[in-house]
Amino acid sequence: MDRETFLVGIDAGTTKVTTLIGEVSATGEVNIIGYGIAPSVGIKKGMVANIDQTVTSIATSIEKAERLSGYKISSALVAVGGSHISSQNSRGVVAVSGQKREVSREDIARATDAAKAVQVPSNRELLHVIPRGYIVDGQEGIKDPLGMSAVRLEVETHIVAGAATSVQNLSKCITNAGVAIDELVISSLAAAEATLTDTEKELGVLVADIGGGTTDIAVFTEGAVYHSAVLPVGAINVTNDVAIGLRTSLNLAEEIKIKHGSAHLADVQPEELLNVAVLGEGGGQTIQRRKLCEIIEARMSEMFSLIGEEVKRSGHAGMLPAGAVLTGGGARLDGVAELARDVLQMPVRVASPQGVGGLMDQLSNPAFSTPIGLLLWGARHVDSEPLGFATGSQLSGGVGRLVDWLRGLFPG
Ligand SMILES: Nc1ncnc2c1ncn2[C@@H]1O[C@H](COP(=O)(O)OP(=O)(O)OP(=O)(O)O)[C@@H](O)[C@H]1O
Ligand SMILES: [Mg+2]
Repeated sequence: MDRETFLVGIDAGTTKVTTLIGEVSATGEVNIIGYGIAPSVGIKKGMVANIDQTVTSIATSIEKAERLSGYKISSALVAVGGSHISSQNSRGVVAVSGQKREVSREDIARATDAAKAVQVPSNRELLHVIPRGYIVDGQEGIKDPLGMSAVRLEVETHIVAGAATSVQNLSKCITNAGVAIDELVISSLAAAEATLTDTEKELGVLVADIGGGTTDIAVFTEGAVYHSAVLPVGAINVTNDVAIGLRTSLNLAEEIKIKHGSAHLADVQPEELLNVAVLGEGGGQTIQRRKLCEIIEARMSEMFSLIGEEVKRSGHAGMLPAGAVLTGGGARLDGVAELARDVLQMPVRVASPQGVGGLMDQLSNPAFSTPIGLLLWGARHVDSEPLGFATGSQLSGGVGRLVDWLRGLFPG
């Protein structure tokens, strides 16, 4: 009989909180059996700004997912966002121990520990230490050194840390909503799970999750993450600009943006007209659609310039043959790929989440790449140690449980 089991992902974003329940088959396939989407109140730019409001938003989304699935959630993988997140690469070196001089699991763990021993100030919390690849007695590009004969083992890692207070506030909100944390995963890496192909990651690719309050980016080369960062701009900035530029309410600006907006000015003719309500005035105003799109284009091209600068900072400008993959709700904007192509000077595609089945009707759009990616992350790390680190003693119990459960699921 197939042993089926469950993974839960919670993404508390700036505009919405999503809880997903996935059933993982013995062969590792993930099927969504429940989801709950609630408007997000209390989160600003990807970070908790009000504990009570955030807990209520999270609890609402959890309840919806539980009701739909009939499954009671006890623990979850949780997405972390916000521009407090920073990354660096670090190398760890150890002598291979043991009589036979064969690389063991313990050697790999010691090498990773050595890489982890970078200076992390006390107000920062480690979120990920991801092995990118190994160097065995000087031979580079080894993906799995286990069992290789060697004297010296080096590991190259990508290390992600966040502000301890921000991470703790998010953890507190999840715990207060009655759910233990299996693992914290930064949004860009979760989104990458649901959108990037292995070939893209091997060739070199950038993923940008354009959310409401933040844009989470990650650069992959040689199959592994090389750089990650969070920019404090998102689709809400575009809506704000539209509201100010057209003197209209935020709600209306959002509606007009989604219905009539485009980031690609070449597609917009001067004779296209729109009728827009004006704040504090009875009648509306007639404007050129082009005026709306100029406002949108200005903000979006600034955002893509910032993304381009981040790629430069990673040292991979002009070195990402697979180009950029845009996802997140902000990537649903009309003309966004065309504009990104112009600004970034690389191939661009907009991606919806892939790789899971089940109740996907509501979820098959770019706004759900991060929560779906959480489930894929959980399913993929089933036969290895979780790469993230829990943030407090009560949480390491959660990670420990996940590891035990995963070991039980995939013995050997
Ligand atoms: N069809 C659409 N066209 C244009 N923009 C859209 C569309 N649908 C959603 N958006 C924008 O996407 C944004 C929300 O994206 P998303 O759901 O990915 O954000 P989030 O995860 O809540 O926030 P963050 O990741 O920044 O914390 C909104 O600001 C909205 O304006
Ligand atoms: Mg998001």
